[in-house]
Amino acid sequence: MSDKLIIFDTTLRDGEQSPGASMTKEEKLRIARQLERLRVDVIEAGFAASSNGDFEAVKAIADTIKDSTVCSLARANDRDIARAAEALKGAKRARIHTFIATSPLHMEKKLRMTPDQVYEQARLAVRFARNLCPDVEFSPEDGYRSDIDFLCRVLEAVIDEGATTINIPDTVGYAIPELYGNFIRTLREKIPNSDKAVWSVHCHNDLGMAVANSLAGVKIGGARQVECTINGLGERAGNCALEEVVMAVKTRRDYFGLEVGIDTTQIVPASRLVSQTTGFVVQPNKAVVGANAFAHASGIHQDGVLKARDTYEIMRAEDVGWSTNKIVLGKLSGRNAFKQRLQELGIEMESESELNAAFAKFKELADRKAEIFDEDIIALVGDESVTP
Ligand code: KIV
Ligand code: ZN
Repeated sequence: MSDKLIIFDTTLRDGEQSPGASMTKEEKLRIARQLERLRVDVIEAGFAASSNGDFEAVKAIADTIKDSTVCSLARANDRDIARAAEALKGAKRARIHTFIATSPLHMEKKLRMTPDQVYEQARLAVRFARNLCPDVEFSPEDGYRSDIDFLCRVLEAVIDEGATTINIPDTVGYAIPELYGNFIRTLREKIPNSDKAVWSVHCHNDLGMAVANSLAGVKIGGARQVECTINGLGERAGNCALEEVVMAVKTRRDYFGLEVGIDTTQIVPASRLVSQTTGFVVQPNKAVVGANAFAHASGIHQDGVLKARDTYEIMRAEDVGWSTNKIVLGKLSGRNAFKQRLQELGIEMESESELNAAFAKFKELADRKAEIFDEDIIALVGDESVTP
């Protein structure tokens, strides 16, 4: 089995399905260029058949992007698939991603189709797509809530028709890591031709477990593609967050043993671009890309980090695109952090007693003010009363 984990970014398709996150063609193109700089393997650029605007956006991205595969979503029917192929014509590497729901609930209530009809439609859709494109992904929508024997039947058939990637969506974020991982593993074990396709995970975050479920799909299930979005953007509670899954696999390479081709220094610029474009603010304590992800406020932590950064940092801020980590000066800060900030500001204390006096003033101020900025320190040491 390959030790490369394929990163499939769907910010521009599933991410855009988030209410209020719709983007113009130009905005999508800008984000696609950033995703290419990030070196994602596959960019799902949109759903070409859903509107003329989406068709044009997929086409513009396909015509521009050279280093990532460009993908369009398509329902499992000839019209959608032909439209996706048309939009992707200019792509250096193209993928058609076709899907149909396979859970009893979705088949009966939404599609109003029998399982046999769904089986047949899935098979014919993949056959049609493969005649237009050598790279075809198939997703059984609501796959995790599907009957496993029926799912095996459908997936075996679409692999026979030439699907090159099989993606198992947890469409409604219902999965639990161990159960989802075992589900993928069971599918791979039961389907005789399973090794002819790359297995992929696609998890939503309704119970806050999209990243954990995706990682379990990789570790327990043997999936080698993760579908994710920048900042976890996506419908309802969002999708699996790219930055978290990538940094988990890189930071815990000892556990996963997998390579990712991502240029991690482009993560924070990508996060900022998606946030500015959509207006979706990133929460300060968001892993990897939140403003506080590498900030230290407590005196004990600041002292530790100033002595050796890995005392309280498992990743380097610089490795994910921050200019540095952050020591936030406030009432919990110690003398060491204060002294370090004075040095960074080019302020020299004449003696230990002068430093002690300045530190006492700083503590007094910090009791009244949540965060002490550089300007506060400059004002504080400029104040004559500091000198004993
Ligand atoms: O969540 C989902 O089921 C999807 C599919 C269309 C892949 O986004
Ligand atoms: Zn989805």
